[in-house]
Amino acid sequence: MATKAMERPGKDDKKADTIVEVIVEEHAKLRSLFDRLEAIVEQDRDGRRSLWAETRKELLAHHEAEEESLFDTLVQTSKDARHESLHAISEHGEHKKLIEQMEDLSPDADDWEEKLAELRHDVFHHLEEEEEDVLPIVAEVLSKDEARTLAAKYREVHS
Ligand SMILES: [Fe+2]
Ligand SMILES: [Fe+2]
Repeated sequence: MATKAMERPGKDDKKADTIVEVIVEEHAKLRSLFDRLEAIVEQDRDGRRSLWAETRKELLAHHEAEEESLFDTLVQTSKDARHESLHAISEHGEHKKLIEQMEDLSPDADDWEEKLAELRHDVFHHLEEEEEDVLPIVAEVLSKDEARTLAAKYREVHS
């Protein structure tokens, strides 16, 4: 095990190390799911159902894990961090409401497609805001060790 302890996460270790890296990686996964969904939504009715189930699950799991790891800690740090965190959490709530509205519609309906487009727009805007406004704050208010601990917490909640 001594050898293992000497290993440093580096170019050969693809696992994200800090909460910032985890979130960037998870956002890429979510964008890819929404992009795949948009690409098939017109032609593949069965495909849209299963891809939607996966996208919905991943989005909700991301929001929950992000709240219980990153935002739970950030709200206790600076005023800016608290403000940005509460804003992000309120947007998570808006996404959940849209998802609930979609659940009340048939995935074959035009209304459902419109809601999906709205959700995609809102989610993409949200991810960009977090990357531009929240993640830079993390480097200011948390140590590298704290950022690593939050990455572990994120994975624990998300699994
Ligand atoms: Fe978020
Ligand atoms: Fe996020």
